[in-house]
Amino acid sequence: MKAHYLVIHGPNLNLLGRREPEIYGHDTLEDVNRRINAWAEAHEVQVRTFQSNAEGAIIDAIQEAASWADGLVINPGAYTHYSYAIRDAIAGVGLPVVEVHLSNIHQREAFRHRSVIAPVCRGQICGLGWYGYILALEALLQA
Ligand code: DQA
Repeated sequence: MKAHYLVIHGPNLNLLGRREPEIYGHDTLEDVNRRINAWAEAHEVQVRTFQSNAEGAIIDAIQEAASWADGLVINPGAYTHYSYAIRDAIAGVGLPVVEVHLSNIHQREAFRHRSVIAPVCRGQICGLGWYGYILALEALLQA
């Protein structure tokens, strides 16, 4: 049976390529999703990608994923640092989740050092750019 995963891109990640390229690089979200889809095809797994700037829409996507996904990869953007609601949604659905950040949040401003999401995730990957999403999917597939 094929594995099914959801990759969630949080707020402002739709601006990738244009947004602070010295931090996030020049790849667009479409470029990132293309690499994710290529990985999915090569590994014969089903991956859906979803982006939203809205906390509620992200929570709805997490809750809905409980009925069809085997795991989640999430880059919660700035919600990482303060969204107890996203954290509770992840804890509530009980799916394995890997948190991903393009940048190394520990090298940046102090407010980015803390993730309220990480304690309810299997693991966290940061600082490795788009490749972090691939590593996260690999980890879910091997789990
Ligand atoms: C980010 C890091 C967050 O601190 C920031 O708010 C983002 C992107 C990253 O991918 O490096 O929006 O999650």
